Amino acid sequence: MRLTTSVFILSCLCLLTACHQQNPPKPFQTSTEAAQSRPDPHSFSRHDQVIITHLELDLTVKFKHQVLDGYAVITYQRLDPSIKQLVLDTRELKIKGVEAINSGKNTKLLWRKGQAIEGLGTPLIIDIPSENTPIKIHYQTSSNASGLQWLSPQQTSGKKQPFLFSQSQAIHARSWIPIQDTPSVRVTYNATIRVKPEVKAVLSADNNHQQAIDGVHTFTMQQPIPAYLIAIAVGDLAMQQISEHVAIYAEPAVLEAAAYEFAATENMITATEALYGPYRWGQYDLLVLPPSFPFGGMENPKLSHITPTIIAGDRSLDSLIAHELAHSWSGNLVTNALWRDAWLNEGFTSYIEARIIDAIYGKERMLMEATLVHQALLNEMQDLTADQQKLVNPQASADPDDYFSGVAYDKGRFFLEWMEQQVGRQIFDQFLNSYFTQHAFQSIETKDFVNYLNQHLLLNNTGKITLNQVNTWLHQPGLPDFFTPPSTSRFKQIEQQVKAWAAGQLPTTEIATQNWTTQEWLYFLRALPTQLTTQQLQQLDQNFALTARQNSEIAHDWLLISINNQYQAAYPRLIEYLSSIGRVKLIKPLYEALMENPDLHNLAANIYRKSRPGYHNIASQQIDAIVGSIEGADG
Ligand code: BES
Ligand code: ZN
Repeated sequence: MRLTTSVFILSCLCLLTACHQQNPPKPFQTSTEAAQSRPDPHSFSRHDQVIITHLELDLTVKFKHQVLDGYAVITYQRLDPSIKQLVLDTRELKIKGVEAINSGKNTKLLWRKGQAIEGLGTPLIIDIPSENTPIKIHYQTSSNASGLQWLSPQQTSGKKQPFLFSQSQAIHARSWIPIQDTPSVRVTYNATIRVKPEVKAVLSADNNHQQAIDGVHTFTMQQPIPAYLIAIAVGDLAMQQISEHVAIYAEPAVLEAAAYEFAATENMITATEALYGPYRWGQYDLLVLPPSFPFGGMENPKLSHITPTIIAGDRSLDSLIAHELAHSWSGNLVTNALWRDAWLNEGFTSYIEARIIDAIYGKERMLMEATLVHQALLNEMQDLTADQQKLVNPQASADPDDYFSGVAYDKGRFFLEWMEQQVGRQIFDQFLNSYFTQHAFQSIETKDFVNYLNQHLLLNNTGKITLNQVNTWLHQPGLPDFFTPPSTSRFKQIEQQVKAWAAGQLPTTEIATQNWTTQEWLYFLRALPTQLTTQQLQQLDQNFALTARQNSEIAHDWLLISINNQYQAAYPRLIEYLSSIGRVKLIKPLYEALMENPDLHNLAANIYRKSRPGYHNIASQQIDAIVGSIEGADG
């Protein structure tokens, strides 16, 4: 799976839901009913009763204690006038008090915490005033907040200042903001962030490029967004405006390389606007995080968070920028109402990503990436159950991350690509353009998409796509047999060369690698036989300097081969790689490969012991499950 592998079913979630012992809160009658009556199983909020609309944050960033301290003012509307309580999601928040904001004097409100549920956190239940006056919650985060990573100066490239960044998706916003943490609810927000003057703060909001130097920064987010898109980062950040709508924020040592790498971003915005309508968020900035960022990218609006591991020096990994930018339409503008419909965010985004790459770099690169992704999807699906291979998984999962497999991303993308092929690009582009306009700033479910698709595409193009075929894509495992997988002649040539080389008919020196792009190297490495001799590995390494590669994706694939074939000359590089990068996609397969060979368990444990303190908890939770106890290792 792309993000996590664990699967729990909703029924165990229901069993865990217990009503509060002393004073059962109104909304939760019995354990089973409680989970079932909540509109979003991954949130305690009852946004069918009371819905929050605006948030005002005032937070002080305390690096010494690794906490955020301050208050949130919440504006809300009652949908049902008889409702007396507002239920918010929290996780490990220390609530100091809640008051109603009345002009002149504030009045204390009664509040209490409900029963915690493993994985979901704790409901905060507040008796709200009948006049719907905004409420102010004084609170402090825990130093273990699941949505925040606090880095020491040593863990940054500048080594002088500490660093903080948030990762709220899927359900971590509740660990730093008391909020209705469901993608069904959108809020606008203002924030005042107080930091020491040596560091800057940036948010998923309007960032003033000329920040005050007194350490008090204010932000506005005028477009309503779900909680999972609220983001903060604080550190020694330099800024460079690289084009009309794009500025890069990064640590000073990384800024220049990042500005070069992401130079195509403005053109990507223009290309996407031509396809799907205006970019509705004003500025589009990129924040390059330290290497411990557990993901490739995160589409925080106006300011995508980006891993530094895509800075390859040749712009060959910038599809990830296309992906995060594409979320400005699919995801941030039109949002999955429930995490079980993650494919509406990620499948659409992966499709748009490919269209952007096609527009900017041409069909060949798009096809090479499509072929690599298709191969990876087939491999991944071998480890998935039939239900997990469906775009709409009928099994509920307690952990929303389970919905973010390659199925949501790449099967989703191939579904849209297939529809495009059936009706033609022009018609499909128009359809998607109006889909985004019609659903802008709304949260929808798969059934809403299917209704819209039926009304606006299928009925007007009779016979080209049937509802039966749509249902096969949505509700059957695997890829439909009426789908033609992507392929490219560039890769066919590589495959022939690998075959000849493996058969001893083509010397290593004669493999025609001139002008190979990153995608061709990746295909080559993946096409090699699984078993290689030390001599073969040495020849490859000597001719192509693979152990020394700085491109993080090529290095990853080579290190995987090295582990699988015990090529010890690459181990020092492996150790350096795993201790300097925390992106789950790049490190997890390497730990898995190490643990497959009992002879390498000690090496895995030693590397992990050294590297774990630098990993984000999202990463260490997953690697813990692979490497397990590291007690037995030496040193
Ligand atoms: N929104 C995701 C990242 C994410 C998903 C975070 C689920 C937490 C929970 C982001 O847009 C994404 O998909 N990132 C990918 C990159 C992409 C090019 C496939 C990643 O991080 O690998
Ligand atoms: Zn995405």
